[in-house]
Amino acid sequence: MASSASNVPNHLAIIMDGNGRWARQRLLPRSAGHRKGTSTVRKIAYACSDRGVKVLTLYGFSTENWKRTGDEVGALMGLYERSVRKELGEFHRRGVQFRVIGRINEFPQRVRDILLEHVEATKSNSDLILNLALNYGGRAELVDGVRALASKVRAGEMDPDEISEEMIGRSLYTGDLPDPDLLIRTGGDMRFSNFLLWQIAYTELYVTKTLWPDFDEPALDEAFRTYGARERRFGAVGEKLR
Ligand code: IPE
Ligand code: IPE
Ligand code: MG
Repeated sequence: MASSASNVPNHLAIIMDGNGRWARQRLLPRSAGHRKGTSTVRKIAYACSDRGVKVLTLYGFSTENWKRTGDEVGALMGLYERSVRKELGEFHRRGVQFRVIGRINEFPQRVRDILLEHVEATKSNSDLILNLALNYGGRAELVDGVRALASKVRAGEMDPDEISEEMIGRSLYTGDLPDPDLLIRTGGDMRFSNFLLWQIAYTELYVTKTLWPDFDEPALDEAFRTYGARERRFGAVGEKLR
């Protein structure tokens, strides 16, 4: 059953966790979990587009994920490359604008090229904005933003006193996007793992034990229903408490 419009977040962010555990439960290599996870990405991205989500930000690889074995990192790189290449036609047909956030300059050239090619090819699409966070870290993003602002101050283009919350927000990779309304983490862990630290100040959090490869449309709708029943107060006294 599809969610009603008021249950649908404008900007949904997802920490896609649990691929390794999914594979281990089946005595498969971790890479098999990542492979299955990419088919969930496709399904959930299109489900979000169908439900009217405007921005979907997916955590694909953190700045800390380099700590994994070379084999696993290599398998992930290969998967991003192949799956993004495979999806381009469908992205276009559905009006998906594909973006990448993170320090992808540290990715292998081949992977970087294919990602940027797709960003360029879909930049005029205006349905769903699909933001893929790769080599992304919330702290790295703040460092990059602060560096950009500091350069402007040094160049005499700006006074330090002018720095505002809005300006910091705009200096981030997500600068032109609204903050996420809902953050879903699959796999059951109750933490943020360095994802969108600045942007989630007032984001609703939804953690499910379901592992990412098992996450499906009914699970998405359940998250949206829960989200729809929340009262977002943003620090004020809400309707139910007045
Ligand atoms: C998330 O699944 C995918 C990436 C971090 C790339 P994991 O690989 O972290 O899966 P678990 O947490 O070990 O189950
Ligand atoms: C977060 O998952 C990163 C991604 C989903 C890409 P991790 O599996 O890396 O997070 P931790 O290590 O459990 O905090
Ligand atoms: Mg994990």
